[in-house]
Amino acid sequence: MAKVLVIHGPNLNLLGQRQPDIYGTTTLAEIDRRLVALARAEGAGVDTYQSNHEGAIIDRLHAAQGRYDAIVLNAGALTHYSYSLRDAIAGIPVPVIEVHLSNIHAREAFRISVIAPVVRGQIGGFGVDSYLLGLRAALAIAARASHADPGGSDGAASVTDEPARRTPSGGASRRQRARQRRP
Ligand code: DQA
Repeated sequence: MAKVLVIHGPNLNLLGQRQPDIYGTTTLAEIDRRLVALARAEGAGVDTYQSNHEGAIIDRLHAAQGRYDAIVLNAGALTHYSYSLRDAIAGIPVPVIEVHLSNIHAREAFRISVIAPVVRGQIGGFGVDSYLLGLRAALAIAARASHADPGGSDGAASVTDEPARRTPSGGASRRQRARQRRP
């Protein structure tokens, strides 16, 4: 069963009351309920986590290795300036999908994404649906990974001498597959 971790960053605990003209009126608890319902309908598992603290989010990213097939991350304002977060994402083999409720590119100039170059892709501007689309993308990535290597063959380990690092649902990691493609 594919397992996905959804991480909500700073101030997202205030959803529902926070700038509803931009972020809508749906609470974080309701978003989490919808994510769990979608995962269940797709036969997958999802855990959700919110923190207002950069270091706590980085710790969760590190701890996700070997436990989750993919991560859906709304990093809130950390998106715009956190190189520690960017390095954490780049440092783990678990694919990360960046999501935002609002379209950050249509807002103030400071709302750039410093994590965009190290995530698998970015989904933004669709309100709560950004999360649900992010979860669907995560499940598609997990399915592809387990399809690419359903039995968990150890070819990559024998070629690279790297110890086999498998995703929780059995596929090779993104890095391993990239290495397998190299001549
Ligand atoms: C946000 C966009 C960020 O610019 C902002 O700081 C947030 C929420 C979004 O979901 O649209 O906290 O990530």
